[in-house]
Amino acid sequence: MLRVDRCICHGVTFEEVARAARADGLSLAQLEDRLGCGTGCGLCRPYLRRALRTGQVVFHQIVLHADEPECSDDGRACGTPQG
Ligand code: FES
Repeated sequence: MLRVDRCICHGVTFEEVARAARADGLSLAQLEDRLGCGTGCGLCRPYLRRALRTGQVVFHQIVLHADEPECSDDGRACGTPQG
């Protein structure tokens, strides 16, 4: 079964990203700066956006860029992490 739970380029799990977002109220851009996630090939970016929007950190389906809109510069479009 497909399992996507991390940024492969930087070895950062979506759980770590969501935890940091919750703990410090960081936007995706700030999380990228701190953790490096999303700054390589970019394939994890829609998963990162969905993780921040919904709190889901393990995915069993493909999530494409078209499935999750880009965050606004201040991160508000990504919403607040759940869970
Ligand atoms: S998988 Fe996250 S930047 Fe490549």
